[in-house]
Parts: sequence; C-alpha cells; structure tokens
Amino acid sequence: MFGDDIKAKMSVSSIIYGPVRPLLYEPTSGKAAILVFTACLLFFIGQSLRIVCFHPLARFPGPPLAIVSNLFYSGTVISGHSHTTIKKLRDNPRKGTNIFVKNPHFYPTDGTIRAKHIVNTSDPVEHAQIRKMMSHAFSQKALFEQEDIVIHYADMLMTAILDESREGLIDLEMFYNWTTFHVLGELASGEPFGSLEARKTDNWITIILMMMIKWNAYDFAIHKLPFLPRIQSWLVPKDIAEGAEIHIMQSKRKILERMNRPNDRLDFVSYIFKKREEIGITDWEMTAHANALVIARSETTATVVSGLTYWLCRTPRAYEKLKRDVRCTFTSSTEITSRSAMPLTYLTACIDEAFRIYPPISIAMPRKAPAGGETVAGYFVPEGTTVAVHMWSTTHNPKNFKDPYEYRPERWMEPNNTDNLDASKPFLLGPRACMGQNMAWMELRILIAKLVFLFDFKLDDDDFDWDRDSRTFVLWEKPPLMTRVTPRAV
Ligand code: HEM
Repeated sequence: MFGDDIKAKMSVSSIIYGPVRPLLYEPTSGKAAILVFTACLLFFIGQSLRIVCFHPLARFPGPPLAIVSNLFYSGTVISGHSHTTIKKLRDNPRKGTNIFVKNPHFYPTDGTIRAKHIVNTSDPVEHAQIRKMMSHAFSQKALFEQEDIVIHYADMLMTAILDESREGLIDLEMFYNWTTFHVLGELASGEPFGSLEARKTDNWITIILMMMIKWNAYDFAIHKLPFLPRIQSWLVPKDIAEGAEIHIMQSKRKILERMNRPNDRLDFVSYIFKKREEIGITDWEMTAHANALVIARSETTATVVSGLTYWLCRTPRAYEKLKRDVRCTFTSSTEITSRSAMPLTYLTACIDEAFRIYPPISIAMPRKAPAGGETVAGYFVPEGTTVAVHMWSTTHNPKNFKDPYEYRPERWMEPNNTDNLDASKPFLLGPRACMGQNMAWMELRILIAKLVFLFDFKLDDDDFDWDRDSRTFVLWEKPPLMTRVTPRAV
C-alpha cells in the first residue's frame, strides 16, 4: 500500500521560494540563500515529522524516504528490482511508520502518445464505455474464432523449434515471444510479425521488449514526482525515448492502414472501428488501444510459458508427471485444442503454479480509495489514498504459500493443502480485472500441451537462475532461456 502527503509541502515551498528568489541576485545574496535554504530545510523536516507522526496513514509501516517523498517509489520502479525490494519491506515491516506514497500518475494520459486506452482510462464511466465496446472481442464466440489463429501459430512454433533444435541450443524465451506477438499482432492490428518465419526477432518486437517496457517504467517513475514531467525528455535515456517514439508513430501508421483495408474477420480493432464515429475515438486513441493489447498481452502470455519451461526443467518430478499425463492422453499433436487439454488437471495445476511463482505482472497496480475513504485490511484509508496489492510479494509470502520458492503444482490439487490459493490473482479482480484471461488460458493450454507432447527440454547451464537474472519494469525483463531441445519420435 502506498500513500503520501507531499502536495501541501510542494505548494508551500513554492510560495516561500517565489518572493525571495530575487534576493539571490543582490549583493547580500549569500545570506539570503542561506536563509532560504534553512527555511526550506526546516519546512521539509517539519512536514516530514508531521507525516511520520500525525498523518492518518502513519500507522502503516515502511522506510522513511518512502513516507516523505515519492523518490523512493520512482527509484524502485526503474531499478528493475522492485519485486525483491517490496518483498523485503513486506517481510520486515517496521512498526509505527507508513509506506503509503501518493501515486496520482501511475497511468498518465495525454491526447497523443499517451492517449487513453482500455488499461489507462481511470474514469469509471469512460472505462465502462470502452470495456463494453471491446467486450465483443472477448466473447465466447470470438474466443472460438481466435483459437484457430492460436493453433496455427502454435504449430508454426513447433516447426520452428523442430528445425532449430538441429542447429544446437535455442533461446526458447524468444521463440515464445515471437509466437504470442504473432497472435496478438494479427488480432490487434491485422498484421502478424514475421519472426517465426524468419527465425529472427522482428525490429518491432525488439523495440517493444527493449524500449517500450522501460519507457513505461520511466513514465510511471517520473510522473510520481513533482516538476520532473516537465523535464522528462532530459531524464529518459535517449535510446529508450527514441525507441518509444518510433514505435508509437509506426503503430499509428499501421492502425490507419488497417482501418482502410477490408478485412472479413472480426478482430480486436474491428470493434473499435465500428464505434469510432459514434463515441468519437481519435486516431491516437485507436493506436493506444491496439498497442495496449499487443504490448502487455503478448509479453505476459510468453512470460508464463517461459517461466513454466524453466521451472519444469528445474523440477524433474513435476516435469515427468506432466509428460506422462500429456503423452498418455494424446496420440498426435493435432488432437491438442484448448477443449481437449482442459481435463488435464495436472497441466492446469502446472500453469497455476507458474502464475504464482512468476506472475507476469509482478508489481502493484495502484487503485485509489474512493470518496469518503475506505477500510482496507481492517484499516481505514482516507479518500484518494493509493492502494495496491504487490503481486510477487504476496505470492512469495510464506504466510500464503508454504515453501513459496518451490515449484509445486500439487498445491493446487491437494484437498488438504493449507496454502491460501486465493492470494495468487495474476489477472486481478473486479471491474478492472484482465479481459483476456480466457484467451490467455486457451493459448497457454495449447502451447504447453503441444510443447510437452512433442519435445524434451533440458536447460543448458546447471547454474542458471531465472529468478536471480530476471528484472522487473512493470513487465519482466527476462534472461535468455538457453535450452537443449530433443524432438520425440512421434
Ligand atoms: C498471462 C497473460 C495475462 C496476464 C497475467 C494478464 C494480466 C492482466 C492484469 C494484471 C491486468 C490489470 C492491469 C491494471 O490493473 O492496470 C490486465 C488487464 C487487461 N488485460 Fe490482461 N493479462 C494477460 C493476458 C491478456 C490477453 C491475452 C489479453 C487480450 C488479448 C488481455 C487483455 C487485457 C485487457 C483488455 C485489460 C484491461 C482491462 C480493463 O482495464 O478493463 N490480457 N491483464
């Protein structure tokens, strides 16, 4: 949970700073500067003491810097280690202080490159309108049509792995990304990427993975601090800013081309085009909707498949059991669909456990306390306070899951298991929960069942530690998953 009270501090310091500033240019400017500095320092100390001792959120534990300033939050977001930093804080809470920091700009929007889309729109009425517009694309009927596309690209992935396995080690993480990006590229902009055919990461995907994800992290970090958004262009590393700009401009071009191209299939954007004039959706907003779907949704699904491959290889007992289940159920990979794979309860448990141990969105997605305040976990939280559940810490808390670092799919099946299974909610809950969870589950069942049916995997390096080498910037920056793949004789 985060919360803060620095707005008052900032406005009063600017009142002080304004009138005395001219003195700095007088001959006595040295004394004046010391006076101003001392006044600001005393003010800051006074405000900090007030927040730490008397603020309504003072009883919440946390490090002092996080209580009095958003610098802590911003630094953590761009460090790549927010998951472990926040977990340490949760495991070792310090009584009597608070870790709430105000976060009004986690989803910054503007009329252009940060145009509103389904994920970043805060206003409930506006959001409900967008969600309704997009709901057709997530209906059961649409899911059924999308399955053909998923199976098509899943089979392309299997062929690519089969071919490349003859050449030696494979970075499976890249192969998985290519596949899920292909699916979403086709559904969200009517244009798949060429990576699976070329066996090489498309420039477009490289920019998304290397630049856009970090650009979003910088955006969140900078917009949490006063004044910094005005000098954002100086603060964001040049390659990241340029990559983001190229990506957004190319996305806009693609989406406009797609709008003018006849297309028989009802994909995600066709529903947006239909409502475009009626509810006044701008070109930037269309671009933003398509981008939001492609970026955060392909990468998340690929993350689960990568995480699951790693933990299966590290947990031979679970891997052997899954192999037995899948290989005894199917006689050919063509029999595998999401429906035929659904009864495989151990497969479902393996996916649930991968979601728990490596949640694709591992950080805390902030929500604000409503007017009049709200009681959260037994505490009254005043209006406007940002509240969030930090996913990775929650699913690695031994109070929720026994031996949380152990990959143990059985915990999802044992009737007497004492874990708090409800503590793992990778798609979140409520009106802002993920709209694509059925699609994600469909895609995961198909991909994983086919992979396990057709291949044997072994990690190249016994010392490789996926947890240690992953960094999180809202989404994960994952290390290469170098794997030796042996095709089965089927
Ligand atoms: C493993 C895969 C996935 C995970 C873990 C996941 C997780 C999430 C999470 C945590 C959110 C809430 C974000 C926030 O609070 O800001 C979200 C929102 C959303 N997701 Fe997913 N997602 C996945 C796959 C997908 C897919 C495949 C699609 C669609 C094709 C999709 C579509 C959406 C949409 C449209 C929203 C916005 C919902 C709203 O605000 O009303 N997701 N997802």
